[in-house]
Amino acid sequence: MPGSTARERLQEALEDARRRYIQNNKISETLHKEATNTLPGGNTRTVLHADPFPIYMRSGNGYQVTSEDGQTFTDFTCEFTAALYGHSRPELQAAVTHVLQDVGMNIGGTTRQEGVFARELCRRFDLERVRFANSGTEANLHALAAARLFTGKRKVVAFSGGYHGGVLGFAGGKPAANNVDMEDWIVTPFNDLDSATTAIQSQGVAAVLVEGMQGAGGCILAKPDFLKAVQRAAYESTETKDIQAGVLFILDEVMTSRLSGGGLAHIHGLKPDLKTFGKWLGGGLAFGAFGGRADIMATFDPRLSSSVSHSGTFNNNTLVTHAGYTGMTQVYTSRNADLFTAQGDRFRGRLNEVTRGTKLCFTGMGTVMAVHTPEDGTREILRGGGIEESNDLRDLFWFAMVEEGFWIARRGLMSLIWGTPETELERFVGAVERFVLEHGEHVAVAS
Ligand SMILES: Cc1ncc(COP(=O)(O)O)c(C=O)c1O
Repeated sequence: MPGSTARERLQEALEDARRRYIQNNKISETLHKEATNTLPGGNTRTVLHADPFPIYMRSGNGYQVTSEDGQTFTDFTCEFTAALYGHSRPELQAAVTHVLQDVGMNIGGTTRQEGVFARELCRRFDLERVRFANSGTEANLHALAAARLFTGKRKVVAFSGGYHGGVLGFAGGKPAANNVDMEDWIVTPFNDLDSATTAIQSQGVAAVLVEGMQGAGGCILAKPDFLKAVQRAAYESTETKDIQAGVLFILDEVMTSRLSGGGLAHIHGLKPDLKTFGKWLGGGLAFGAFGGRADIMATFDPRLSSSVSHSGTFNNNTLVTHAGYTGMTQVYTSRNADLFTAQGDRFRGRLNEVTRGTKLCFTGMGTVMAVHTPEDGTREILRGGGIEESNDLRDLFWFAMVEEGFWIARRGLMSLIWGTPETELERFVGAVERFVLEHGEHVAVAS
């Protein structure tokens, strides 16, 4: 429109995209309206909320998902990294069918298979002992309980922008309003070596909890030096004082464990006291695990009179112990994890090539990445929320990719499913290239 500002023209483009979205997804709109009568905001998982309403998914197959409105998408949301195996992997179907037909669900006893699965997890992720839970959130809560019991202290250092579960969020540099243990957190800037060291070595700290790449925070990579400094600061406090007074280093590998045969710790040569897991490791089923040093994990050894209970009805359920083990050993072997990370790096490289010089860029590692829209076009993002980004541009990008048939998370997270054809990755690169051409004015960095 003549006389309008660049900002107004971006809003108009967004309004057009929104109108088409509403037009193309009438069934989803109806389902959403119905759902608001029983679920607050029609939602039971906040991250899936989308304005004006979310697209309702009917089914998934292989690397694709199909909406109730009949559109089929290449799935780059990948269930926020958990759908690594896609939606119908034959090996996992066989494992689940085997349990349903030959083993049975909910058999209320200790099973041989939980030991088999535990052995594989310990081997692959260099753990002396491991325990299972039902989500990444739970895994972190139990790891923190272990650290507190082991050290006899309460405080935990976490990082701004970090996310460790539904009640363990640190967006904006403070514990989320619904976090547990509100008074026990010390939240410090991500990728800042000095402030991390000071926080870790302050009084009363039981543990430091960190992601090697902040996933929910926007796929922001920790600098290797930062992770080494965190490890060193925790380790030095252990060395110089009575071991019970040390600080435990807990690496949250819930998202990053898929990035190499041995997760992110292996990539950077880290030796955390404890690691936490979840997502894909359940073979597509709800799962969490935490493990590491045998002396710390002995906190939960029921043979010891000093032990504490770690319970969970579904901790060793037969479906997850079979599916998880099958996935790790028959599909996503260590070698395949390394290959997939290399493929993801090449893909992200291509995306950054076609968006060079614009306000769009892709951060991350391997097959886990996020789109960013820095106003100043910077490519080096060390801290989520540390730079000014255009939310309107990110929304416009989302609407455009959805229209092109790519299912990416509204907040910009993208993750690949093992077996996604290379032609689909190239198709996405083409779609991004077209977006940059079509919206040249909106993606241009102000000079
Ligand atoms: C790094 C990290 N830790 C923990 C969690 C929580 O896992 P869950 O959603 O299985 O509770 C997540 C979830 O996205 C995560 O990204």
